[in-house]
Amino acid sequence: MDKIVVEGGARLSGKIPISGAKNAALPLLAAALLPSGTSTFKNVPQLADVRTMAKLLRMLGWDVEGDSALTIAAPTGKKKPKLEAPYELVKTMRASVLVLGPLVARYGRARVSLPGGCAIGARPIDQHLKGLEAMGAKVTLDHGYVDVEAKRLRGATIVLDMPTVTGCENIMMAAALAKGRTVIENAAREPEVEELALVLNKMGAKIQGAGTAIITIEGVDELAPIEHAIIPDRIEAGTFAVAAAMTKGDVLLEGARPEHMDAIIAKLRAMGATVSAEAGGLRVKGGDIKPADITTQPHPGFPTDMQAQFMVLACLAKGQSVIKEMIFENRYMHVPELGRMGADIQVSGRVAVIRGGQKLTGANVMATDLRASASLVLAGLVAGGKTEVLRVYHLDRGYEAIEKKLKGVGAKIKRAKDA
Ligand code: EPZ
Repeated sequence: MDKIVVEGGARLSGKIPISGAKNAALPLLAAALLPSGTSTFKNVPQLADVRTMAKLLRMLGWDVEGDSALTIAAPTGKKKPKLEAPYELVKTMRASVLVLGPLVARYGRARVSLPGGCAIGARPIDQHLKGLEAMGAKVTLDHGYVDVEAKRLRGATIVLDMPTVTGCENIMMAAALAKGRTVIENAAREPEVEELALVLNKMGAKIQGAGTAIITIEGVDELAPIEHAIIPDRIEAGTFAVAAAMTKGDVLLEGARPEHMDAIIAKLRAMGATVSAEAGGLRVKGGDIKPADITTQPHPGFPTDMQAQFMVLACLAKGQSVIKEMIFENRYMHVPELGRMGADIQVSGRVAVIRGGQKLTGANVMATDLRASASLVLAGLVAGGKTEVLRVYHLDRGYEAIEKKLKGVGAKIKRAKDA
């Protein structure tokens, strides 16, 4: 297994290229199951999760070739698609559940292993299934798998209990080929949901309202393959923005889209950073770090995927910050590891109180989930001495060559083999 070794103290300065968005790439690869023919995606991030999704599409019978430019060709002639996503793959990446909607919509059936929980929470898929049932699908659960069948899905009005991102994406993809109109109420408003709707419409779907709480989909009979470049990753950009703010650096996040990052930018400014849209990206300069209170919310609120990173920034502020994690029930696993580096953080339920101003010292720390591991690398950038972040396979799921990108702006960081 690899580890990341960081020497604290560098002030980051220069340019970091932002990769394609992981949470856009995953639903878009699943959407490529809908049309016949060959779709091409550009600006595909080189991430473990994207490789896992590509592997799943191959297992289903699609030809997937390339890396940063990916072609996805539907099976033709005698080659019939498989309609099952097996446990051994789904357990490594819950976003595999995104193949459910496209397969049922196009082939009338799919069998997908239930993703089960993950480190940050139970993360059920009841809303995904509720939506498909509302469209006439028969859903049965057995032996840890969900079987979904429908001769032809029909449009329905679906009110989500919460604005689930992949739930909304699954239902949108299914509704694209259903008969009639589907209305999703309390829909997720993330930029990645908008991106999926844009690509589905390029395929010939008729979707309106993506990015708002009400999405309307007029079903069509078939969709056509497309070519598309994936939007930049707002969470990767936000992570490096925090790194610049923490090290009192001056970094240009090349390709970042400020309009996807309003809540992140507002909080960076509230905590003392200077943030400006510049040269086709976002420029972040660190200043005196101030404490702030943060509550994670569905988009356009403050993203849960940035909570761990901002907790580290709060550790450096003079004063107390309060963080409330309202999306996932167990997303504070970075706290004990930060504590071992000298942070003073008290967690009670969904609330974390950070008493900033402690001196962080380097330590050997354990990554537990994707964004927690990113926060440990960030802490290592400012901690005195050396920090070794173990189990960086978590990090590689969502960050493309993070050590190269940080080294490119002056960080003393390298990847090494863990004994
Ligand atoms: C997406 O996960 C993202 N992943 C997550 O990013 C992100 O943290 C999350 O949205 C919230 O923004 C992808 O897009 C691939 P949800 P998703 O369904 O869709 C509950 C990262 O670090 N819920 O919006 O799985 C659920 O338990 C990852 O890149 C149900 O109860 O999240 C959670 O508490 C982590 N029933 C809340 O809703 C359901 O059927 C939000 O989950 C679905 C969700």
